[in-house]
Amino acid sequence: MLIDGVNIQPGAAEFPRNQWYVAAFGTEVTREPMHRILFGDPIVFYRTEAGEPVALFDRCPHRGMRLSNGGLLFQDTIQCHYHGIRFNEKGRACLIPSGGVPTSSLSVKRYQLKEISGWIWIWAGDADSADESLIPDHDDLGLTAEGFYPRFGLALEANSNYLFSLENLVDATHISFLHHGLIDDGNVAAHPYQCVQDGVRVSMVREFKDEVIAPMVKRTMALQGERADRTLELTSYAPSLCVVRQHFVEAGSDSKMRRDSRLVVGITPTGPRSCIQFVAAVNDYENTYPGLFDDLRHLLMEDVVALDDVQILFDQLGQDRAPEVSVRSDEGAIRTRRLIAAQIAAERSAKAPA
Ligand code: FES
Ligand SMILES: [Fe+2]
Repeated sequence: MLIDGVNIQPGAAEFPRNQWYVAAFGTEVTREPMHRILFGDPIVFYRTEAGEPVALFDRCPHRGMRLSNGGLLFQDTIQCHYHGIRFNEKGRACLIPSGGVPTSSLSVKRYQLKEISGWIWIWAGDADSADESLIPDHDDLGLTAEGFYPRFGLALEANSNYLFSLENLVDATHISFLHHGLIDDGNVAAHPYQCVQDGVRVSMVREFKDEVIAPMVKRTMALQGERADRTLELTSYAPSLCVVRQHFVEAGSDSKMRRDSRLVVGITPTGPRSCIQFVAAVNDYENTYPGLFDDLRHLLMEDVVALDDVQILFDQLGQDRAPEVSVRSDEGAIRTRRLIAAQIAAERSAKAPA
């Protein structure tokens, strides 16, 4: 599927570079250099002595050693393990043990980072063009807002194109089938919805009355009763984040307990056919349920396994022989891919010579 000349068909969809993506949980980035491939780029992450996260292209320009491969930190610099050249946190070589003055060609790309709450965002494009206003509002997500309690710590690697994950999380209709009985009473697919678009946000909203609370929801949300009214809102933030918001009001019990839950999932391409889902769980109460991430892993792996399977068939057939036919309820997914295609097209036209 081409939109504005951009290949935006899940399975082979391109991704925009001048955007923010989740790179890591804050706890993963320490004084021990960490290697991670994102956007097809090898990247080394570490922290300065003052605790600021750093991300550099993970390849020494001298003879091509990974800086993370045995590299040591000296104050805020990283020393290549092969011949000991040191690079500062801006990616510039600052010491050549064998002699000579470091030139600007002896430098590696530095990535712009922004640490918010429990995770670190990365700008995939040139650091100098990073625009922090494009990061989703973390108060709105519930990750920094008062009265909300976020928990971070689940990362899932998928061997499938990032757009499969993004569209999957804005599509509630699969819940009734792929996750049958796990988190609903099997009635989501046929339920009417509203699709609301606001800037890069696309939400699919459904209201349920007096439905049976599924066992996994009951235990992860510490709900007491058997039935509840529920608002289910699935939102994509093109191109890199999805939020599953659920609001419960217990029905048929005097307490009428209310619970708000948000699953915030950063989706970051690692290559053309792979991505990482970084998961945060947020509640409007302190959720101490110890099995929370085990349950969420179980749920989300049902998606990952299915999407990886779709990718295998897509690659066996090739894009020309793997067309898609959308149905009405795919509205949120289609709007999301149009937004991403427009982001990529805008990037291209900004780069094109006048
Ligand atoms: S390869 Fe890094 S210093 Fe030579
Ligand atoms: Fe799912």
